[in-house]
Amino acid sequence: MNSNAEMDFIKINLESESYKIFFGKDYIENSANYIREFTKTNKIAIITDENTANLYLNKISRSLLESKYEVIHIILKSGEKIKNISSVENVINTLLEKRFERDDLIIGLGGGVIGDLAGFIASIIHRGVNFINFPTTLLAQVDSSIGGKTGVNTKYGKNLIGSFKQPLAVFSDTSSLSTLPVREIKAGYSELVKHALIKDNELFMWLCENWNVIFNQEEEIIKAIKWSSNIKATLVQEDVRERGSRALLNLGHTYAHAIESLLKYDGTILHGEAVSVGIILAYKTSYLLGYSKKDELNKIIEHFNDVGLITDLRKFNKDNIDSDMLLNAMNNDKKVKSGQKTFIIPEGIGKAFISNKINDEIIKSIVDTALAS
Ligand code: GLY
Repeated sequence: MNSNAEMDFIKINLESESYKIFFGKDYIENSANYIREFTKTNKIAIITDENTANLYLNKISRSLLESKYEVIHIILKSGEKIKNISSVENVINTLLEKRFERDDLIIGLGGGVIGDLAGFIASIIHRGVNFINFPTTLLAQVDSSIGGKTGVNTKYGKNLIGSFKQPLAVFSDTSSLSTLPVREIKAGYSELVKHALIKDNELFMWLCENWNVIFNQEEEIIKAIKWSSNIKATLVQEDVRERGSRALLNLGHTYAHAIESLLKYDGTILHGEAVSVGIILAYKTSYLLGYSKKDELNKIIEHFNDVGLITDLRKFNKDNIDSDMLLNAMNNDKKVKSGQKTFIIPEGIGKAFISNKINDEIIKSIVDTALAS
């Protein structure tokens, strides 16, 4: 493998399972050179989805096959709908049928759905096998590939079955962003901004000034991804199993997960789109409770509007969502503690705290106001 010194990476320092997240342009094309130092097996299963397979499966496989690896392809349908336990069972059965062994390697190639699903499978098949992630979307590169959360959705809510499974390495091939639809870039950008809002006012200011350049220039997008990923890495290192401060990364997510669950993961919205609306609702909650100022709320709405992120709950099919339904869906959130919902409340820009004390009436009034036409 190229020496780490020449490679752009950040390190996730964890007690027994530290790993690096590499950023660069040729990881998919030269995958064999990069993974070699992490595994002794010659059998690799690549789990991916149809969209990603069309673009990158041949590329990644060519490199592996040329280096004499035996490669199993598992191609799932694209979208959140496949992130469920029956996909897990099907994939595991296929792997077992192909005599996939304990020392073999699973590669996840795709966005957040694939990373979560492939990582979860790697954590349970044969009680855990090696996993390397090649995230190909902005959302996966700035958020879901970092920190080892894996899992699938159930009809009761998002990511309710899952595990912590740290990969051996993450290869964020930024050349994949050039083929990503603008809608997906925006959805990933909402998670990137989230990191700024909870920890780094300077990053938020820089994003407001430079977002247009970031969206169009590879160098700047890498700078944004690394800046934001470092924030996430710090929180993961502090609290890898989310007993406390890591929960700050859920800003906007109590709302977002409830919205996604009400829409039954039907593909009409992307996770990052639910997150951008969720962040605005979290700021409205914060403003109502006196933790953020009106001009801070407005600044965030203005930035999201400039970028083209969704800020308005009414954009989602109104018949599927009202405040009682949202409150009900929130009861299934895995962050509920002793029956109390958990919210991340921003305090201005660059700071936030965790609260289990927001009563339902406040949430109801925020949602009712947001839905009133
Ligand atoms: N996406 C939130 C976390 O990884 O903790």
